[in-house]
Amino acid sequence: SWTMKGFIDEAVETIRKQVGDEGRVICGLSGGVDSSVAALLLHRAIGPRLQCIFVDNGVLRQGERAQVEALFVDRFHVPLKTVDARERFLSKLAGVTDPEQKRKIIGREFIAVFEEASRDVQDAGFLAQGTLYPDVIESVSWKGPSVTIKSHHNVGGLPEQMKLKLVEPLRELFKDEVRALGRELGLPDEMVSRQPFPGPGLAIRVLGEVNEKRLDLVRRADAIVQEEIHKAGLYKEVWQAFAVLLPVQSVGVMGDERTYESTCVLRAVTSVDGMTADWARLPFPILEKISSRITNEVRGINRVVYDISSKPPATIEWE
Ligand code: XMP
Repeated sequence: SWTMKGFIDEAVETIRKQVGDEGRVICGLSGGVDSSVAALLLHRAIGPRLQCIFVDNGVLRQGERAQVEALFVDRFHVPLKTVDARERFLSKLAGVTDPEQKRKIIGREFIAVFEEASRDVQDAGFLAQGTLYPDVIESVSWKGPSVTIKSHHNVGGLPEQMKLKLVEPLRELFKDEVRALGRELGLPDEMVSRQPFPGPGLAIRVLGEVNEKRLDLVRRADAIVQEEIHKAGLYKEVWQAFAVLLPVQSVGVMGDERTYESTCVLRAVTSVDGMTADWARLPFPILEKISSRITNEVRGINRVVYDISSKPPATIEWE
């Protein structure tokens, strides 16, 4: 639209003025809408002086890292450094079952990994963030510390000697405006309309101990949920739909064998802002399809249950 084009020109001008003619700008990509839009806007303004960093923390969804790389590197030619920190995160998470501990560990490791990667960027003068207007007026508080680098944690988390200044090109925008801006910048629809995904990722969707084996189960179950929700044309109607792995085994039967395997929860909610939510009345055929695919295709899960709790008193996530 005219307004969006006008906004882009103005934002590009403002960014150029703020960051000057030299030095590089670092931007952390999370795979979500805000950081993606911020990165594309910055790329429009300063081109290859932008250096994006994406941290693979080992608790991403199936194909997430490849999607980010395909989009930013192959399609938009944005300089991107992917840090494979899977082992580092998973070894720190080993044996940890408390949700708040998981969040703390992931938040801390993220800052450390991001900081190390930033140090390698020559002539970095600025750090870009996809802070939105609602984040500015009132910082959202989750059940624990978020790994989203919000301005207040963020600056403190980076090494003093780097003295990075903040660039926040989205700080006057609301979410729907960010989506419109993303579209205008050529961000594909599947990215623009992405459902929220928590910073601590699959670590808080594997209840109990987080290890490769259990992550693999939830990742494969979740991929089926995503696929079927998309196929049914329901992706935009639900606020979030995902799988959760419980630390519960139950008896099942396969052929003439008794099984004793894991239980997976299907969670799907409708919501306007995530503050309150209602369980989604998914059509039975969709539930049936998801359940039978998970139990047939994911060896190690023999039972799927549907979460019919609303928020409050439950929360959207299980941890
Ligand atoms: P709950 O589970 O509190 O979640 O109803 C509300 C929304 O917040 C997301 N969420 C998080 N996002 N870090 C994040 O970045 C977190 O630690 C976190 N915990 C929950 C959740 O996915 C939902 O959209």
